[in-house]
Amino acid sequence: MDGRPINKTMDRDDLRRPECRRVLIELFGLMRTMQRAGAQYSSWYGHTNTWPSIWENVNRGPEYDEFPGNPDELRVPWFLLWEIAWLVANTPLKPGSRILDMGGAGSLFSCYLAARGHEVIAIDINGELCRHANATVRKMGWRYTAVEMDMTVLDFPEAHFDHAFSVCVFEHLPISGRVRCGEQVRRILKPGGMAGYTFDYDNPQAFGRLSDPADVFEQLVRPTGLYWRGRPEFVDNKKRYLSTPQAFGFGRFTASTAKLHAFVTHAVERKRIVANTMDYTFGAVFMERIK
Ligand SMILES: C[S@@+](CC[C@H](N)C(=O)[O-])C[C@H]1O[C@@H](n2cnc3c(N)ncnc32)[C@H](O)[C@@H]1O
Repeated sequence: MDGRPINKTMDRDDLRRPECRRVLIELFGLMRTMQRAGAQYSSWYGHTNTWPSIWENVNRGPEYDEFPGNPDELRVPWFLLWEIAWLVANTPLKPGSRILDMGGAGSLFSCYLAARGHEVIAIDINGELCRHANATVRKMGWRYTAVEMDMTVLDFPEAHFDHAFSVCVFEHLPISGRVRCGEQVRRILKPGGMAGYTFDYDNPQAFGRLSDPADVFEQLVRPTGLYWRGRPEFVDNKKRYLSTPQAFGFGRFTASTAKLHAFVTHAVERKRIVANTMDYTFGAVFMERIK
């Protein structure tokens, strides 16, 4: 760590940093190896189907720019590359650590950790995804188990994990679930253990509700009772890359109808529809259990 913030919103330029480049080189190699072995990791939406929906494409935003060298743009946009590279580059992972990935059965992130020799336990509320992940693991021969479990009820012994991660899942939980999960993370981490999450930041969809640094602290950091790693604050660089799909339409008429529908159903924050600012980004936070 060089004093620059690690608890922050996403920046495409982060991927040019040497510590992220190193992760990307390994990641691209793993993606190719898995493709050759017929072993499938899930897409950034947590799906195992090959073709992404129109919804996923719209979600990438109108300015989406493919990432050079990415062997699987269909399922892995550069946003997911950032999440993985940023978490890994900013976490000292001891060889052979036992790692929990919450909401990540069969994800590229959990596969990457297993391929690096860590013992991975990925939990997911989607049982089908867990079965798919365990079939993948059998092909690859990793120390990796996917378990169907709700991350708001962490059924593990005390001090069981060296690391707990979660990649783009917290925003899908109600705020009470975010807090309940956080309250248990400290217990299942060993002293000296670390947590790292990525999440939607400033997503105007009704479920988002992580729209300023205080939200990040109150919902994701404070409930854990853990200490921040790096500077004890969340920094918003104000860059936004993704678009909420609810307001999308081909042409002005369908776009206006989509916006009206989102307005009436409260699917998207009304002030954001009115202001026509429906873009958002990802963020990351890092914490540790001191004792
Ligand atoms: C956007 S996907 C992210 C997938 C993955 N973490 C990744 O890195 O690509 C969200 C995932 O969270 C899972 N999920 C949602 N609510 C959950 C909960 N309460 N407990 C565990 N997993 C949950 C979903 O089944 C889905 O696999």
